[in-house]
Amino acid sequence: MLEVKNLSVSYFSDDQVIKAVDAVSFKVETGSILGIVGESGSGKSTIAQAIMRLIAPPGKITGGEIIFDGQDLLELAEKEMIGVRGARISMIFQDPFTSLNPVITLGEQIAEAIRLHQGLNNQDAWAAAVRMLEAVHIKQAAKRARDYPHQFSGGMRQRAMIAMALSCRPEILIADEPTTALDATIQAEIIRLLKEVQAEFNLSVIYITHNFGIIKAFCRDVIVIEKGRVAEAGPVDQLLTRPQSPYTQRLLNALKILSERNHG
Ligand SMILES: Nc1ncnc2c1ncn2[C@@H]1O[C@H](COP(=O)(O)OP(=O)(O)OP(=O)(O)O)[C@@H](O)[C@H]1O
Ligand SMILES: [Mg+2]
Repeated sequence: MLEVKNLSVSYFSDDQVIKAVDAVSFKVETGSILGIVGESGSGKSTIAQAIMRLIAPPGKITGGEIIFDGQDLLELAEKEMIGVRGARISMIFQDPFTSLNPVITLGEQIAEAIRLHQGLNNQDAWAAAVRMLEAVHIKQAAKRARDYPHQFSGGMRQRAMIAMALSCRPEILIADEPTTALDATIQAEIIRLLKEVQAEFNLSVIYITHNFGIIKAFCRDVIVIEKGRVAEAGPVDQLLTRPQSPYTQRLLNALKILSERNHG
């Protein structure tokens, strides 16, 4: 349903060109969860931003196609892209404050998104916003909807952001390291919630992380990115048991050392 073909993105400065993404290809099937894993700086966020067409100067998409619903997103006019971004393809970030407005109550923000995309009146949009907050298990949702982002804990803000991202019923959700800033217990809760809403809304999910442990717990397929290129791709089980590339082996060894430290 989403196919990225030979995507290339570079960042241009006066004296150098950084090839952040170099001929990357992958597919995301409807209703499945694809992990993108790689070290810091390998190009993961750049891939996500390219899919959303959010690459800003000095960055530029230099080649490739992003086929969604039979159309190349890179060919769409910005006006048409607005009907896709945040509506059919939604994104959540590591820092909820990038997508939540600090001076507007949570309920208002979600209701506004719903009003915009689904054309509901104020009252119905508010009710739908409260239902979204309930769907992500925010307790006393009707009351909490009147609170501002800073009145929520990190994990709760992350839940609110998921509610916001899902409020326009997207087909694809891109999550760019949404749990990195959270402690392990809350991290696990967010992953569980994402799994739940993925099934409930039959979402396709692209989950970006440098943490192979999360990939293992959450994804069916994975692509491993090394310096802007696909080092390896395939079902997670297969990569875990028989990693082919030395880079994947290194990432997995790091995971093993971490878990041995935690258990020993
Ligand atoms: N706005 C920018 N200007 C110049 N270079 C950039 C810009 N954004 C990213 N880069 C470069 O592009 C490469 C890929 O960056 P990107 O943020 O996509 O990596 P990442 O895998 O998401 O890393 P992290 O795990 O730290 O989030 C890096 O070399 C980075 O320095
Ligand atoms: Mg990143």
